[in-house]
Amino acid sequence: MGRRLIIDCDPGVDDAVMLLLACAARDALDIAGITTVAGNVGAALTARNACIVRGIAAREDIPVFAGCTRPLRRAPVEAGHFHGESGLGDLPISAPRHGPEPRHAVDFIVATLLAAAPASVTLVATGPLTNVATALAREPVIRRGLREIALMGGARSEGGNITASSEYNIHADPDAAQAVFGSGCTVVAFGLDATHQVRATPARVDAVRAVGSRAALAAAELLEFSNALPANGPRAQGAPLHDPCPIVWLLRPEAFRFRPCHVDVETASPLTLGHTAVEFRAAPQRPQNVLWAVAADGDAVFDVLTASLAQDSRRP
Ligand code: BDR
Ligand code: CA
Repeated sequence: MGRRLIIDCDPGVDDAVMLLLACAARDALDIAGITTVAGNVGAALTARNACIVRGIAAREDIPVFAGCTRPLRRAPVEAGHFHGESGLGDLPISAPRHGPEPRHAVDFIVATLLAAAPASVTLVATGPLTNVATALAREPVIRRGLREIALMGGARSEGGNITASSEYNIHADPDAAQAVFGSGCTVVAFGLDATHQVRATPARVDAVRAVGSRAALAAAELLEFSNALPANGPRAQGAPLHDPCPIVWLLRPEAFRFRPCHVDVETASPLTLGHTAVEFRAAPQRPQNVLWAVAADGDAVFDVLTASLAQDSRRP
């Protein structure tokens, strides 16, 4: 049996690549459910998109649960300019064969963690942290079932990608992010400092496409969509690959290097809202319960992506 997981996400082009990767890694990952949250696009679209991607991956055995439709205390900030109107770039969209389950994502997270053995479930979060913070606030005891929260979010030395100092997932719901970083759970954070080291260069995208499976062709198309966006920099350099990083870490931990730290999130200043204050200096009043990714091996990340997608032998 593989590592037990809940995946919380807001697909989103790079969330979709992350889901294709996680769904392909059948032997290593035991995905209890995919929960979705409003983020890159609205909540109805992120839930639909998760169902579409699960269908492409032929993993309709994994249930999808739609979650919070807006951040805890603020107006939604969407990022459709990075993900296309549908949220899935240029992928053809048709109604998924099976939609989300009737249960709310937060109810599913709470029930799954309450029933779990101590420290047995990894929660991977690649969108705004609204569902995760809501679940922790409703039943703080669910911390017991969590092995860790592995999240994509935040920025330190790289600066921001939505404002000068903030990364999108944290900026979109800074109150939720502060609650999660301060929850006492072990958090493994993949911010822009690491994900900007993982670039979808044309050669790497070609290698993904060359796998030839249905999932690999979809992943290559999604990567190509991001590469073509001027906001992601020159095509030859490749767009950064954010959301697959926590999943790759589960599959090949040595692809990343971390430093322990304490993280606080700015929730008051309009100028720096969602900034992650990453403190590496230990002090008694600051528990170092966050592992902050400082280095990523881009070749290793793409090796894992390509090798995992190659496990799917279905041709289109
Ligand atoms: C994060 O923001 C979203 O737009 C992406 O899906 C990713 O989770 C990168 O900052
Ligand atoms: Ca995302």
